[in-house]
Amino acid sequence: MASPEADLPLPEAFTTSTGHGFSEAQYLDRHFLAAEPEYQQMIRSVGFQPGWHILDAGSGGGAFLPLISTIVGATGSLSAIDLAPENVATIQTRIAAGQMACPTDAQVASVTTLPFPDQSLDGVWCANVFQYLTNAELQQALTEFRRVVRPGGLIALKEFDGSVFQFYPPDPLVWWRFVLSLPLPLEERPLLRGLWYHRRLSQLGLVDVWQRCTLIERRAPLRSIERAYMADMLSYLGNRGQHLSEADQRLWQHINAIQEPDHVLNHPDYYWREGAVVAVGRMPAVDAR
Ligand SMILES: C[S@@+](CC[C@H](N)C(=O)[O-])C[C@H]1O[C@@H](n2cnc3c(N)ncnc32)[C@H](O)[C@@H]1O
Repeated sequence: MASPEADLPLPEAFTTSTGHGFSEAQYLDRHFLAAEPEYQQMIRSVGFQPGWHILDAGSGGGAFLPLISTIVGATGSLSAIDLAPENVATIQTRIAAGQMACPTDAQVASVTTLPFPDQSLDGVWCANVFQYLTNAELQQALTEFRRVVRPGGLIALKEFDGSVFQFYPPDPLVWWRFVLSLPLPLEERPLLRGLWYHRRLSQLGLVDVWQRCTLIERRAPLRSIERAYMADMLSYLGNRGQHLSEADQRLWQHINAIQEPDHVLNHPDYYWREGAVVAVGRMPAVDAR
C-alpha cells in the first residue's frame, strides 16, 4: 500500500512488517501509557454506549482496546483489524490473557476494505492511522466506515496534531522547520491532517459532528514511561532530518543522542506537549446515501 511517507527512509525501530513507522506494538503501548489519563478522558467523551459493538480500525497492538471494552461492558463487543499480522497476533494474546471486558475478535484487514456487512456496527474508533494513507485511501476508508456503521452509530477519528507539538529546549521553530522540510505536498502532510477531520466527517454526511484537541503536557521530572516514550519519539525524529540545513541536522543529531548527559530530556526545565485531535460524527437516523 502506498504511503505518503514512502520516499522517506524509515529506521527499523517501531516499524511493522507492513512498513509503517511508529506502529510496532511495544512502542504503541508506551505511547498510550505515557498519555493514559488524557486518553481515558478522550475515549469516554466520544459517546460509545454500553452494549455496543465497536470496531477499532487500525488497532495496532490493541493499546486502546481494554479501555474501550470497559465502556461497552460485558454486553458489548469489540472487533479489531490491522494490516500488520504481528499486531493482530499481539491482540489475540491480549484477548487470551483476559484483558478485555467484553467478547473481542481480531483479524488482518485494511481500513479501505472492511470485512463487515453494511450497517453491522454501532461505532468505529480509528486512532493514528490516517497519517499513513494517501488522500484517495483516506476517502475510501471513510466511505467504508460509513458503510458499516448503522444509522445513529458513531464514527470517531483520533490523530496526533503536529501543529501543537513542541518540546523545550530548543527553539520552537526547529519543529516547524522539520515539518516544512518533509518532501510532501500540503494535502499529504500526514502530521497536520487531523486539523480538518471535522470537515471530512461533515462532508461524509454525518450529523452532530464535533472536534476537540486535547493538550498532553509534561514537564521535568518525567515518569519513566513518559521518558521512554519521548526518547522513542525524539530518536525517531532525529533520524529523519536529512532534508534540513546543516545546522538543523546537527541539532537533530544531538536530539537523537538520547544517552548524552546534556540531552534535552535531562534539562531541568524540560517541557513536552503534543496534541491529540478527536473528531466524532453520528450516522444520520435515515441514511441519505
Ligand atoms: C500508529 S499505529 C496506531 C495503532 C493504534 N490505533 C494506536 O493508536 O495505538 C498505526 C496502525 O495502523 C495500521 N495500518 C496502517 N495502514 C493500515 C491500513 N490500510 N489498514 C489497517 N491498518 C493499517 C498499522 O499497521 C499500525 O498498526
